[in-house]
Amino acid sequence: MDSILVTGGGPLKGDIPIAGAKNACLALMPATLLSEEPLTLTNAPRLSDIRTMSVLLQSLGAEVTAMQDGQVLALSGHDLKSHVADYDIVRKMRASILVLGPLLAREGQAVVSLPGGCAIGARPVDLHLKALEAMGAELELRDGYVHASARGGLKGGEVAFPFVSVGATENALMAATLAKGTTVLKNAAREPEIVDLAQCLRRMGAHIEGEGTETITIEGVDRLGGATHRVVPDRIELGTYMLAPAICGGEVECLGGRVDLIGAFCEKLDEAGISIEETERGLKVARKNGRVKSVDVVTAPFPGFPTDLQAQMMALMCTADGVSVLEERIFENRFMHAPELMRMGAQIDVHGGTARVTGVERLKGAPVMATDLRASVSLILAGLSAEGETRVNRVYHLDRGYESVEEKLGAVGARIERVSET
Ligand code: UD1
Repeated sequence: MDSILVTGGGPLKGDIPIAGAKNACLALMPATLLSEEPLTLTNAPRLSDIRTMSVLLQSLGAEVTAMQDGQVLALSGHDLKSHVADYDIVRKMRASILVLGPLLAREGQAVVSLPGGCAIGARPVDLHLKALEAMGAELELRDGYVHASARGGLKGGEVAFPFVSVGATENALMAATLAKGTTVLKNAAREPEIVDLAQCLRRMGAHIEGEGTETITIEGVDRLGGATHRVVPDRIELGTYMLAPAICGGEVECLGGRVDLIGAFCEKLDEAGISIEETERGLKVARKNGRVKSVDVVTAPFPGFPTDLQAQMMALMCTADGVSVLEERIFENRFMHAPELMRMGAQIDVHGGTARVTGVERLKGAPVMATDLRASVSLILAGLSAEGETRVNRVYHLDRGYESVEEKLGAVGARIERVSET
């Protein structure tokens, strides 16, 4: 199994290109199931999660061809041959549940295994199922699978989410594009990935209003056509790489970065004393003098501070001046990186959903274990400025969400390499 070896070092300098968003792409790809015509996605990230979604869609009869080294995905849902999403594929990735809404809307039936994914809490799919029920779906849970049917097709309905769910909003949004009549999604997620999906669906001929707000209204149409769509930049990859110069010092320009994708995070970096400048090419981030100030963070749905940047922000706070309190409000078990950071000398007290971090002057390199996707990159960030060598084991999580992390960080002067053990 591969591990990543990081040797702590000095300031970073240079450019890091930001890829297309994994989470947007994972929602856009299943949209191909809604149409007989081709869907082309450009600016796709090259990640194992994207390959998993390709395999899942292919198992349903969709065509998925990766071109231009994986940055362009040509998809077609012309000849679907199955409506069963098998456990062996779905268990690898929670986002697999996103085939449920489109399959049901197009085929009138779907059988989808209950998903797996990162071990960061219980993560049920009840909101996805309730939303589809509100559109007339009949659902049954049997042998670990959701059996869904909608004889005569889905019907528009009102879906009021009790709390914000990105995935449930995406599933409901896709399903509603082919439902008869009007669907109103209330308390919908407002993440940039939702806006991106709505824009792509509209290009395919869907009638959607209100994406990016709490209420999305969808007028169902009989059929959707083809489209070409550019995937929005990955705001989580962006935030992660913005933290690299914040932790190590120096100046890095994140190419393609935009403040509107990540406003709450930028405010926190600013409070911590990190400078962020909007340039024509993206965002230039610098820590020029002194130690980072500690800041408090509460994760929240967009436009709040993203839970997917909490672990990386904790890595920054480990060496900040003072005490910082990080509150995790989205997932109940998302501090698994804390004990690993403590192996590197960090001072962290975790009580339930709150972590209190007392900054130390410098962390010390140590062998650590990646427990989930974002945790693994937080350990790499911490290792970048730690004294000595940090070996991050079990990095398969990392490859799910970060393309060429060693090359991107290596290009700005970080000492980082992948070690393959056979
Ligand atoms: C998506 C992102 C993930 C991010 C998360 C929150 C993708 C592929 N993944 O995940 O990286 O961390 O948004 O920003 O886009 N919940 C339920 N029942 C449901 C659905 C969700 O209880 O049916 C709970 C979850 O356990 C969690 C909260 O709602 O506590 C938010 O989850 P949700 O927004 O649905 O996250 P995902 O779409 O799975």
